[in-house]
Amino acid sequence: MSGSTGAVAEVPSRERDGRGVVRALRSVAWPDLARLAELDAELFADDAWSEATWWAELAGRPRRDYVVAVDASGEVLGYAGVDLAGEVADVMTVAVVPAARGTGLGDRLVGWLVARAEESGAEALLLEVRADNAPARRLYARHGFAELSVRRRYYQPGDVDAVIMRKLLSQKGTDRG
Ligand SMILES: CC(C)(COP(=O)(O)OP(=O)(O)OC[C@H]1O[C@@H](n2cnc3c(N)ncnc32)[C@H](O)[C@@H]1OP(=O)(O)O)[C@@H](O)C(=O)NCCC(=O)NCCS
Repeated sequence: MSGSTGAVAEVPSRERDGRGVVRALRSVAWPDLARLAELDAELFADDAWSEATWWAELAGRPRRDYVVAVDASGEVLGYAGVDLAGEVADVMTVAVVPAARGTGLGDRLVGWLVARAEESGAEALLLEVRADNAPARRLYARHGFAELSVRRRYYQPGDVDAVIMRKLLSQKGTDRG
C-alpha cells in the first residue's frame, strides 16, 4: 500500500443536516480516544471497546482508518472505522449517538466506509451485525450490502446470531501499486 488516500481523505468535510446543524467528518486523533471509549460503553454495552483497544486500533493505521463526526463545538456525534487489509476490507465499527440518529449521519458514515474501501482497492467490504439490530441492517441494505451468512449465537450473552453482510465494490483503487 502506498498510503495514498486520494479524494476520500479530504476530511474534515462539513455539511448541514436537515435541522441546519453543522457537522464535520474528520480523522480520529489520540485525544478523541477517551470520549470514544465512553461512547462505546453507552452504545455497544457487552461489545464495547476499552480505551486500550481504541489506542491499539489507532496504532493500526494506515491499515485501519477511523473518522469521527463532530458538531460545531467539537462534540462527537458519531464515528466509523474500517480495516483495509487487501482484497477484502472489513467494517470495524459504526455508531451515531442517540440524539443525532435519524438525520442521515449513519448514512454518511457508511458512505465514507464504502468510499474508503473502494479507494483502497478492495474488491468487497464485509461486516457483521447483530441479527436483532434492525436499524443497522436497514442502513447497510440501503448501501447495497447483501446477507452472506449467519453465525449462530455469536454474540454472548444473549445467544444472538451475527449476520455477515457483504458489498461488492467497484475498483477505484489508488492505494494499490
Ligand atoms: C445503526 C445506526 C448507526 C444508524 O444511525 P443513524 O444516524 O440513525 O442512521 P440514518 O439517520 O442514516 O438512518 C436511520 C433512519 O433515519 C432515516 N432518516 C435519514 N435521514 C433522515 C431525515 N433527514 N429525516 C428523517 N429520517 C431520516 C433513514 O431513512 C433511516 O430510516 P430506517 O431506519 O427506517 O431505514 C445507529 O442506530 C447506531 O449507532 N446504533 C447503535 C450502534 C450500532 O448498532 N451500530 C452498528 C453496529 S453493526
